[in-house]
Amino acid sequence: MSWKKRIAEAAVARLSTYDRALDELDRGGMEIISSDELGERVGYSAAQIRKDLSCFGEFGKVGTGYYVKNLKEAISQILGINRTWNVALVGAGNLGSALLAYPGFRERGFGIVAVFDNDLRKIGKKWENVILQDVSEMPEKIKEQDIQIGIIAVPAKVAQQIADMLVLSGIRAILNFAPARILVPDGVELHAVDFSTELERLSYFLTNEAAIRTEALEKGKVANGKEDKTRESPHYHQD
Ligand code: NAI
Repeated sequence: MSWKKRIAEAAVARLSTYDRALDELDRGGMEIISSDELGERVGYSAAQIRKDLSCFGEFGKVGTGYYVKNLKEAISQILGINRTWNVALVGAGNLGSALLAYPGFRERGFGIVAVFDNDLRKIGKKWENVILQDVSEMPEKIKEQDIQIGIIAVPAKVAQQIADMLVLSGIRAILNFAPARILVPDGVELHAVDFSTELERLSYFLTNEAAIRTEALEKGKVANGKEDKTRESPHYHQD
């Protein structure tokens, strides 16, 4: 992965946070916000926000701040969430059913419009307004339903096979939950989610808390002796 891409990916994650905050502000009737105020809301410094937004164009006016609605629309456009994405979920088990039941994805523009499984006891049943379909029919159904994103929630041993099927069906964006290393061809974006790794990061923090806090406080001092405001509080911070 190139350095440029890594910076962009970190900024994209922050944009998603800004977008949610702006959405809330817009619903609350706020029209203009400064980068300082937005920073306080989202837990990033005003400088970080200005830097992130400057990667994508001119959004604010010096001394005026950002127009909430305009900035929200611009960020939604950058993130590609000013539209609806059709999502296919493969694996209607414990995890799959929880994902399907969560209304937040649809609210953010990600509609799980098809669910596939190979369990004959499940196929044909209706869950959350979606009829479970046979995984063998996935390629044609994905085309028929104009699906762009695939979620893998099957056992690890069949995850690669499902990824291959998704790719053959024309899917170019995959979110994998199975604890398996999956290979996809160039041009297909694969992201993996692993709660265990996240829990292990927390257990590492609890195990090494004292050393991590000392290091964080040390980093909070900038070379000229001034405090770095972005790291001011060791109590409130963001990943
Ligand atoms: P589950 O056993 O409840 O569900 C798996 C589903 O996949 C079942 O409905 C099964 O019929 C279906 N399936 C199996 N082979 C298939 C195939 N070839 N084609 C289509 N469907 C097939 O399992 P659960 O608990 O829902 O977990 C699903 C996956 O997600 C597992 O790989 C698990 O390790 C992983 N997982 C990952 C988490 C994470 O943090 N990334 C958290 C929880 C689960």
